[in-house]
Amino acid sequence: MEWTREKRYLPYKDWDADTLLHLQAQAANSQYQMHYHLRPISGLINDPNGFSYFNGEYHVFYQSYPFGPVHGLKSWVHFKSKDLVHWQNLGLAVEPDCKADSHGAYSGSAKEIDGKLFLMYTGNHRTEDWERIPYQVGAWMDQDGKVKDKTILFRNPDHITEHFRDPQIIERNGHYYAIIGAQDKENQHGHIDIWRSNDLKNWEELGFLHFSDDDMGYMIECPNLIFVDEKPVLIFCPQGLDKSVADYDNIYPNMYVIGDDIDLDNCELINPSKLRNFDEGFDVYASQAFNAPDGRAYSISWVGLPDLTYPTDKENWANCLSQVKELSIKDGKLIQTPVTAMESLHINEKELTNSKLELDSSNQYELKLNIKAEQIGNLRLAASNELKHSLLINFDTKNGKLTLDRSNCDLEVATDYGTTRSVKLAPNSDLSLDIFVDHSVIEVFVNNGEAVLTGRFFNNPNNHRISFDKEIKYSGKIWDMQTIL
Ligand code: FRU
Repeated sequence: MEWTREKRYLPYKDWDADTLLHLQAQAANSQYQMHYHLRPISGLINDPNGFSYFNGEYHVFYQSYPFGPVHGLKSWVHFKSKDLVHWQNLGLAVEPDCKADSHGAYSGSAKEIDGKLFLMYTGNHRTEDWERIPYQVGAWMDQDGKVKDKTILFRNPDHITEHFRDPQIIERNGHYYAIIGAQDKENQHGHIDIWRSNDLKNWEELGFLHFSDDDMGYMIECPNLIFVDEKPVLIFCPQGLDKSVADYDNIYPNMYVIGDDIDLDNCELINPSKLRNFDEGFDVYASQAFNAPDGRAYSISWVGLPDLTYPTDKENWANCLSQVKELSIKDGKLIQTPVTAMESLHINEKELTNSKLELDSSNQYELKLNIKAEQIGNLRLAASNELKHSLLINFDTKNGKLTLDRSNCDLEVATDYGTTRSVKLAPNSDLSLDIFVDHSVIEVFVNNGEAVLTGRFFNNPNNHRISFDKEIKYSGKIWDMQTIL
């Protein structure tokens, strides 16, 4: 089937119910489908949106194109949770149904204001000549989950191109602010544009945020500002970033900087750190973070990247979201840890004692290992019995290096961007790994969240072997994980 423009932007009501049911069954029944991560009900998902706390529960939405594995007419699908682990699907929430979002209800954020959830997002509108007009839209969600009163707040000012999207709504010092990904017209470089309002209706542009002296490439998507241990942390996705500014391997990185303070009125992140990768793996993008009312900072990410294809495209669905992680800061770097409720998914706890760690796992598990210092070896996951195919973690606790290697998996993913991702470790030190596998996604938390490596991998689902390639001094535990949806 060819994905013509007409087809991608066909209104949802013009698709027939049988097609949608078939697509839903394809996604649900796929052997690669995730069971304890948020995943597409059908078609393609990308950015998490509107991650927030409202009416006593956590909420998250995702960008969805329900009719195939392509970036077509986007909407928001809504989930809520009491513990950030068990999610209830509340279905389509922001539909592309007005002029402002006629070609997609693009990414945005949410914040509880006066007993309602205020949503701020980018309405992607195209004229008949296919000229894009990015409208920043406000809308309100009631406690019954209905989204109403969509209003255009403003569009791109003259000095910004059509690339102007992904507003995050922030309340600070008695004002509302929005930070928005933007490309300037003069040089076509990427920026984070700041706007201010007192009533969520009248908005004024304050200017581009200064958070680095380096050039950020041609566009910044999905900027997020949160406070972690009272420090401002900016998480964002620069596109076309020169690798001399910050090292990365993925097609587009998801990066962060930490400041000592932020002066939004004067567009200044004070004393910014250097840019760092938010995740050290293959597939994290468009991470969204927010501060819950108790001050804790949580993040959730799209596990997938723009402009790549994935093996499940053949099955008409693509991508998933990461688990929710709690953020803290240590030695000037972000630490990401699983939320405690992840433990409520544990079943069948097994203590690991065999020094070669030979066992068969299910397809959804958590594996915790403490590997002693001064050892070099390979941990194979999802391996075939003869160990020909596997997802490999190579560790060197002598010199201090860990590598996630998907070169021996059955199916290839984005090999143009390499098949390994590595992080440095302190040399001659014990290594703790907290590994979450959910069918075709892996999240590896290294040394209590000092680094996380996230990636999709596609092995025969009957490959269940976990093993070291030799005797290793370690201790460990494994649990199966329950299904959440
Ligand atoms: C990032 C992104 C956003 C945009 C959305 C559209 O993945 O391109 O900039 O709002 O996806 O789905």
